[in-house]
Amino acid sequence: MTALTLSTSAAPGLRADAIVIGVAKGAKGPVVAPGAEAVDTAYDGKLAAVLETLGASGAEGELTKLPAPAGFKAPLVIAVGLGAQPGPDADYEAEALRRAAGVAARALAGAKKAAFALPVEDAAAVGAIGEGVLLGAYSFDTYKDNGAGKSLKAKNGRVPLADGVLLGGKPRDAAHKAALARATAVAEELNRARDLINTPPNDLTPAAFAAIAQGAAKEHGLKIQVLDDKALAKDGYGGILGVGGGSAATPRLVKLTYTHADADKHLAFVGKGITYDSGGISLKPAGHNETMKCDMSGAAAVFAAVVTAARLGLPVNVTGWLALAENMPSGTAVRPGDVLRMYSGKTVEVLNTDAEGRLVLADALWAASAEQPDAIVDVATLTGAMMLALGSRTFGIMSNDDAFRSAVHEAAEEVGEPAWPMPLPEHLRKGMESPTADIANMGERMGGGLVAGLFLREFVGEGITWAHLDIAGPAFNEGGAFGYTPKGGTGSAVRTLVRLAELTAEGDLG
Ligand code: BES
Ligand code: MN
Ligand code: ZN
Repeated sequence: MTALTLSTSAAPGLRADAIVIGVAKGAKGPVVAPGAEAVDTAYDGKLAAVLETLGASGAEGELTKLPAPAGFKAPLVIAVGLGAQPGPDADYEAEALRRAAGVAARALAGAKKAAFALPVEDAAAVGAIGEGVLLGAYSFDTYKDNGAGKSLKAKNGRVPLADGVLLGGKPRDAAHKAALARATAVAEELNRARDLINTPPNDLTPAAFAAIAQGAAKEHGLKIQVLDDKALAKDGYGGILGVGGGSAATPRLVKLTYTHADADKHLAFVGKGITYDSGGISLKPAGHNETMKCDMSGAAAVFAAVVTAARLGLPVNVTGWLALAENMPSGTAVRPGDVLRMYSGKTVEVLNTDAEGRLVLADALWAASAEQPDAIVDVATLTGAMMLALGSRTFGIMSNDDAFRSAVHEAAEEVGEPAWPMPLPEHLRKGMESPTADIANMGERMGGGLVAGLFLREFVGEGITWAHLDIAGPAFNEGGAFGYTPKGGTGSAVRTLVRLAELTAEGDLG
């Protein structure tokens, strides 16, 4: 993991592999962003012209390498695009800084030390750059060493940047220090969520995930309760047991509890944790199951958010529920046509075993509701329909409370996670009517993401504020890396959940 420090040193004297600077898109070509003055001066004030000659425009995602000017201890300058230059009285947006820092950190894989001379107007900028560096530097190579050891990895440039120095960050400023500490906690836990998502399903079984949660609970002083298949059967968790029943790797329900002595609010986070979704008896066709190790991304996000809340010592109580199961076809698997008796007591006719996420979530939502939290937020890679609606970078937000849905949306925007509010149209409930049971686990195909949201709503306790985040699109990046987002597991929703916990602690939510 990359280590970050703040430094008020001048760029020329810094011993590093590279100095990272920002370049923005101005009205008349690229402009050098604040923070890079020393580099510009050493280029006789002609750095913008040099960058333009090299083809730089300042566009977001752009990266230009140039030799450091004479007298610099670092050999290389890396100019990263910040997008449009802000107006005369405006600062660079946090997300622009986060993405630019991420682009640079990704390019610096294999380097030992880099200095980031990006615009730092305030502590928020320190946090954004810090997050961008740590998230951009991420790589998953647990399964990549081929027995050749670290030296080959280094040669391939896969070892993340070791040290990042944030220039313009003040090491003795309390706000700057706090912003860096927050960025470090958030990014480290988010990266751990990415590791869990990327871990292949033969290794990350429900029991293995629960064991990892137990380790983290011990490390961070969280209370943890793990229900195994026997305990789930005793207590009547028909949804989780039904979904997990086809797999030799038995299901678990993990409850992680973080409490703070000064807290007067209680948030519950519920995560879909399907460690592998084959579809079950309603088997997915080839081409649709290769990435389905990502189907526990919701649980990974919840896990990371609870641990982060603990590391930050937020004055709010947070309970995380991880509904862990593997969805497999077998002689013991749930069949289309089966009726499950859920933890809430409701019966569900399973019409499609591939609509399994809502079944495990229903039980966890009901369990979370029993504690009467001030709000419940569930996170799930729930429907392909949400990907069709919003694409691969935006998650959908549904809620039984319009004001809460807006608050969640605002929190997501604040931390740089693209999200969009979605409705829960009442008329879609009809499609889930079952001749046999209280409800079916499938309804109309059109609006499938909303149908899933309506199903979940039935398992939220009376009067409890609830939001549902369908992260099927952004949870797993099948394209190339961009900004601070790598290929594979992204850690979607972690930062939104952490922000919700912070806002609740500050009394600004619910
Ligand atoms: N895990 C999938 C949804 C998904 C699809 C997540 C693609 C990420 C990428 C979910 O369990 C599922 O299979 N949903 C079905 C529901 C349908 C059978 C009602 C879907 O969306 O097709
Ligand atoms: Mn499925
Ligand atoms: Zn699924």
